[in-house]
Order: sequence, then structure tokens, then C-alpha cells
Amino acid sequence: MSENVKIVFEGKTYEFPVIVGTEGETAIDISNLRQMTGLITLDPGYANTGSCSSSITFMDGEKGILRYRGIPVEQLAEHSSFIETAYLLINDRLPAKEELNQVSVLFNDQSLVHEDMQNFYNNFPRASHPMGILSSMVNALRSFYPELQIIEEEINITVTRLLSKVRTMAAMSHKISRGHKVVYPRPDYKYCANFLHMMFDTPVRPYQINETLVKALEVFWILHADHEQNCSTSTVRLVGSGRVNLYAAISAGIAALWGPLHGGANQAVIEMLTDIQNDGGNYQRAIDRAKDKKDSFRLMGFGHRVYKAYDPRAKILKKMCDNVLDELYITDPLLDLAKKLEEAALTDDYFIEHNLYPNVDFYSGIILRAMGIPTNMFTVMFAIGRLPGWIAQWKESVDDPKWKLGRPRQIYTGPKETRYIPIDER
Ligand code: SDX
Repeated sequence: MSENVKIVFEGKTYEFPVIVGTEGETAIDISNLRQMTGLITLDPGYANTGSCSSSITFMDGEKGILRYRGIPVEQLAEHSSFIETAYLLINDRLPAKEELNQVSVLFNDQSLVHEDMQNFYNNFPRASHPMGILSSMVNALRSFYPELQIIEEEINITVTRLLSKVRTMAAMSHKISRGHKVVYPRPDYKYCANFLHMMFDTPVRPYQINETLVKALEVFWILHADHEQNCSTSTVRLVGSGRVNLYAAISAGIAALWGPLHGGANQAVIEMLTDIQNDGGNYQRAIDRAKDKKDSFRLMGFGHRVYKAYDPRAKILKKMCDNVLDELYITDPLLDLAKKLEEAALTDDYFIEHNLYPNVDFYSGIILRAMGIPTNMFTVMFAIGRLPGWIAQWKESVDDPKWKLGRPRQIYTGPKETRYIPIDER
């Protein structure tokens, strides 16, 4: 591998170092490009641009590989828990048994939300989208928990508070949006079981914890926990680079995730499948529309900026759909429809040529439906899962000695200098 690249510009030759990552990913270090040549690069959507070096998550888009701190996501989905995976991502190692127990105790201590926050919830219009509520409420946490002076302590308590409370806050918005009493977390329940308890327990019908659904939720959140420099993670890093508090950076990440091209796709997939079902199950029409350049319709849950093979998370979720529905004796016509749509798309030349495969969002909604999660909360479920990854990536940037304010450049295409024209002369 050559150690540098040469750029010849206006008769001069410039050399830039080549950086090679652990798995052979190769980049040109252009940190001094403008200073040396006066040039900048232009890369809309950053498809060819690395924003940082990171040791947290490795993805190979061509081979459909995903590893957290080197561990294949398939092994974590099978053997780990969401809290253990969160610990791995944030602390760069798996916890010892005692450490994992301590984390569970800390999460219980931090699982309640300040009662005054309920006033905020009660004043959102009932039809408010839970992602807008979650982003606002996470930002509001700074007002309720002022900054500690000791940075290390501040970071640790904020991380625990966020991971524990985000689950309670999500369940609260669900209950309050229905005009139901808020259900408090139970100290004898672990993370995922407690979430389902807070979501679905009612005074008239106590919620019975179903271990199949608890395991499905563990796997769902493990699969969503991190995904290197995606849109929302890059947002958390960029907002955090201004040295704002972590709550504000995470709130920005939640807002970025909300979009239907990103985390909002899981809700859009179910809406798309429901539309197809209402159209008599005509999934071929959806495929034809997705291929029609004059039609802005996209096959939601298909395609990915990095994966040009089957998203490894979608493979696990697809199998989990069958297991969960079978174990709960549930049939969901949308699952059968999704499988037919996938089969038709994967044999269609357009999808083959464009390397379009199901991504994490294509099957995830089926599992969330089986849990009883309302469709408008699907992206909130994604956000809870992604929180450890956002925190780990933010922490990695804070710990980077070269941590700089993120500030991209541009190519200006506006008018050359003009003069102000007084209103009477216009
Ligand atoms: C997530 O980055 C991450 O890691 C994200 C994520 C994570 O864990 O954080 O994995 C989570 O966001 C998954 C993606 C969820 N979004 C969707 O399912 C929405 C539908 N998918 C697309 O909109 C699209 O595939 C994107 C946005 C996901 C990726 O698009 P790119 O990389 O910007 O590619 P593109 O839009 O330039 O498309 C390239 C070509 C185009 O055709 P041409 O003009 O070259 O002929 O592929 C076509 C597109 O029209 N294409 C699709 C398509 N996706 C891409 N055509 C039809 N249906 C689609 N879904």
C-alpha cells in the first residue's frame, strides 16, 4: 500500500499521507489540503468523506458485516443483553459480572423522572409525535439536573441518567398521550422488562411479562445500538463539538433520526405495507413506482448508503419475526406481504443493479407491532436502542486530543459583489 498520494494542481505536485484502518479501510489525510493548495473538497452527503477515526463499530457494506468493538453483532444478539452491549460500546470492553450488577442498580436508582416533567408532557398537544416530545424532553433534562463541577462524575452520572430515564420518558409519553396514568418502573425488573411494564401495565389489567417479547426487545435494541457515522450519530458529534452539554447533543441526534430516510423509515415501512395491503396487496405496483424516476416514491426499508449487500441486522430481525409471531401465536398479514415484496424486489433487475436490499427498518416494525408498540413510537424505539452508540461516539470525540469544532467549508455560487438598492429605486 503506498504511503501517500500525489495531487498535481496548476503545475505543482502535492503529497498527502494515506491512512489505513484496522480492517484495511484507506483514506487520504487532507487535514492540510487548503493550507497547502488553496483547494477544498466537495462531497454532498459525505458519501466519500471520513469525519473521524473510530474504534467503536466496524461495518463492511460489501460483505454485510457489523461488529461492535470487534464482536460480530450476531453473537451479541444471541448471547448478550442490551445493557451489556451498551456497556461494551461506551467502555470499550465487556463488563465483569459485578460491574453489570452495579450498572443495573444504578439504572434502577436513575429510572424515575422528575415529577415536574409531567407538566411538560401534559402541555404537548395530544397528537404530538413522540419523537418531537422525546427530543424536547431530553433537552429539558439539563434544566432539571444542573452540571456537576467534576467532569468525570458529570459524564458518568449523565450517561447513566440518560440511558435509564430515556426508557421511562418514552413510556410516559405513550401513557400520557392516551390520557392514562403514568406507570412507574419496578426495582425488581431489568431494563427491557421494565420498559414493557411501564408501557403496558394498567390498574385494571396488570401487564404479564412475556420472556419471548423481552428477548425480542433485547435483540431489537442490541441491533440498533450503533452504526458508525450515520446521519444522527454525525449530528451528535457535530453538535457536541461546540462543547454543548450531552443532553443537547443527544436531543439533536433524536431530531436527526426522526427523518423517514433515516430512523423514521421503520414507521414509513409499516405505513407503506398498510397502503399496499389496502391496495389489494399489489406489491408489484410499489416496486414499479420505486423504479419510476418520475415518481418520488421510494421502497421504504430498502437500500443503504453503506450496505450494498443484505443488512446483517435485517437478516436477524426477519428470522426473529417468524419466531416471535409463532411463539405468540400471532399472524400478521403485513409480514407475509413484506416477504413477498422482498422476494419480488430481490429478483428485479433494478434492485439488483442498484444493490438495494432490506435494511434494519424493513422487518423491525413487524416485531414492534407484535409487542403492541404503536406505529408512531417505532422511531422512539430506534432512538432508545441507538442511545448507547450516540453516547459512545460522543465520548470518543471528547477523549480525542485533536477534538475540534466541526465546521465544513463550501463552494460559493451566489452573485459577485453588488450594491444595496434603496426601496424607492426597486
Ligand atoms: C437507516 O447510515 C446508516 O447507517 C443508517 C442506519 C443506521 O443504523 O443508522 O442504517 C439506519 O437509516 C437505514 C435506512 C432507512 N431508510 C430507508 O429505508 C428509506 C429508503 N431508502 C432510501 O431512501 C435510500 O436507500 C437511502 C437514503 C437509505 C440511501 O440512499 P443513498 O445512499 O443516498 O443513495 P441514493 O439516494 O443516491 O440512491 C442511489 C440509487 C438512486 O437511483 P439512481 O438515481 O442512481 O438511478 O438507488 C436508488 C436511487 O433512486 N434508490 C432507491 C432506493 N434507495 C436508493 N430506489 C428505490 N427505492 C429505494 N429505497
